[in-house]
Amino acid sequence: MSEKKYSPIACELEKDKRYAWCTCSHSENQPFCDGAHRAHNKPPSLGFSVDQDKTAYLCTCKRTNNPPYCDGSHKN
Ligand code: FES
Repeated sequence: MSEKKYSPIACELEKDKRYAWCTCSHSENQPFCDGAHRAHNKPPSLGFSVDQDKTAYLCTCKRTNNPPYCDGSHKN
């Protein structure tokens, strides 16, 4: 697959809102979980929140060592 497909997605995150980052890559709503992991018998999403409003680049390749954030692993 192309690097574009694996590129992180810039997300406007709100302070203290709960987010569920898809860990299984089957979600149609990347980078967030849409429940598709259940049908694929994969582990559930990773819940997270942020302590201030910010734009964050969330990983879509699922190989980051700093989930849910992109660490550049998609380029390797
Ligand atoms: S759909 Fe991927 S973790 Fe839920």
